[in-house]
Amino acid sequence: MSLIRYFFHALTVAQLVFAENSCGDVTIQSQSDADSISGCSALSGNVKIDETFSGDLIINSVQKVTGSIIANNATQLTSIIAPSLESIGHSFSLTSCTRLTQLNFADLTSVGEIYWEALPALQSLTFNTGVTEAGDVTITNTGLQNLDGISLKTVGKFQITDNPNLKKININNLQNATDLVDFAGNWDKLEIELPNLGTAYNMTFRNISSVSMPSLEKLMGQLGFWGTKFESFFAPNLTSAADVTFNDNDKLTNISMPELNKVIGGFVITRNDKLVGIELPALKSVTGAIDFSGTFDKVDLGSLEEVDGGFNLQSTDGKFSCENFDNMKDTHTIRGTYKCKAVTDHPTNSNGKSGTSTFHGNVSSTGTSNAASSSAAVPATGLAALFFALAQLV
Ligand SMILES: *[C@@H]1O[C@H](CO)[C@@H](O)[C@H](O)[C@H]1NC(C)=O
Ligand SMILES: *[C@@H]1O[C@H](CO)[C@@H](O)[C@H](O)[C@H]1NC(C)=O
Ligand SMILES: *[C@@H]1O[C@H](CO)[C@@H](O)[C@H](O)[C@H]1NC(C)=O
Ligand SMILES: *[C@@H]1O[C@H](CO)[C@@H](O)[C@H](O)[C@H]1NC(C)=O
Ligand SMILES: *[C@@H]1O[C@H](CO)[C@@H](O)[C@H](O)[C@H]1NC(C)=O
Ligand SMILES: *[C@@H]1O[C@H](CO)[C@@H](O)[C@H](O)[C@H]1NC(C)=O
Ligand SMILES: *[C@@H]1O[C@H](CO)[C@@H](O)[C@H](O)[C@H]1NC(C)=O
Repeated sequence: MSLIRYFFHALTVAQLVFAENSCGDVTIQSQSDADSISGCSALSGNVKIDETFSGDLIINSVQKVTGSIIANNATQLTSIIAPSLESIGHSFSLTSCTRLTQLNFADLTSVGEIYWEALPALQSLTFNTGVTEAGDVTITNTGLQNLDGISLKTVGKFQITDNPNLKKININNLQNATDLVDFAGNWDKLEIELPNLGTAYNMTFRNISSVSMPSLEKLMGQLGFWGTKFESFFAPNLTSAADVTFNDNDKLTNISMPELNKVIGGFVITRNDKLVGIELPALKSVTGAIDFSGTFDKVDLGSLEEVDGGFNLQSTDGKFSCENFDNMKDTHTIRGTYKCKAVTDHPTNSNGKSGTSTFHGNVSSTGTSNAASSSAAVPATGLAALFFALAQLV
């Protein structure tokens, strides 16, 4: 009797242990470890792919992982195929998997966080349904050529850096970003289209050739462009942002933000040598400083009522008058240090650095002016064709 009970007991414990092993945390060293979880439609734990795993990994039948899927330094892993997996509760973290060429997740829609780093052989995603929900997304140093399959509606941090083959990003679904959105060091002709993005926190752009965000209405944080290659920036519906920066964008001819009325921070435009016009007809208040320097002719700041910081406006070829701004300084509408020079050989920013990337000290202003106005003619053909696009590749 007691012996039978003992056996029963032993059997139950064994079953429990087996159940926990198969549907809880699992470390995969070989395909047979992966096969051992194929009875679990929901796996409540983490799936760790061991660095000794070699070849193609197939995770069958599992629909849900409540924890993370992690592979770090699995240098012999060549693909992960999980045809039924719909959600990953925490992180989908892949780092230093240098031979990984394929991620085949046909049904995946929801991920707590994506963190992919050092996956140089990964060129595309096979996410047939598409990931529509993710918290933070970091994709850095991969071979990806596009982000097709990442069709997020909202995102926290979205950091896409150092992917040398990344040519195009179009996330039609994206409406809202709540943390830093950062593009840098990707293919230098990267084109970014976020047609439905309405609100965002900080957005920074480097090494891109075009950006289109026609629906953008509000940025809680900064908007910054450094060293980009697009020709015009048009944000027809943007009303407010924190710090705004356009620095060293050598093809930029025109900045147009017709509805922008408030900058909660500083506003810097400098070293954009082809810039001909700054059109900010609705801009009422800037809580930091305005610091515009370069070779532009035209400045429209017709609604400006308040600048809490300094004001520095300097151009080689300005066709604007400083008189209005002088008056604003006199009436303390501009509160900080003040400098305005419509025509100066050597425009500088508020820190005294050159506002152009070429030295203008000895260049005749006629020469510069010709260069600027001939570049102004370039976008004319583009403008008709380009309706709500913000930025255009030359
Ligand atoms: C990665 O794995 C290789 C062996 O596969 C090992 O030599 C190396 O130390 C590991 N690197 C890290 C950072 O774990
Ligand atoms: C964007 O997300 C923030 C934070 O979750 C939320 O407060 C805001 O309402 C969202 N905006 C839109 C347009 O979805
Ligand atoms: C800009 O805002 C207006 C008014 O809210 C809206 O009707 C229009 O669709 C928006 N444009 C874009 C491109 O989102
Ligand atoms: C976001 O932008 C604000 C305002 O420019 C800045 O103070 C802050 O450091 C930025 N944060 C990140 C994470 O970039
Ligand atoms: C990105 O642009 C910066 C200038 O903003 C430049 O120094 C850097 O070399 C560029 N990187 C690539 C990968 O093109
Ligand atoms: C700048 O672009 C806007 C919008 O495309 C256009 O209306 C405006 O005429 C352009 N300004 C210059 C100086 O090219
Ligand atoms: C050119 O620059 C030099 C050195 O800064 C200066 O001495 C000279 O007068 C300048 N020439 C002209 C025509 O501005």
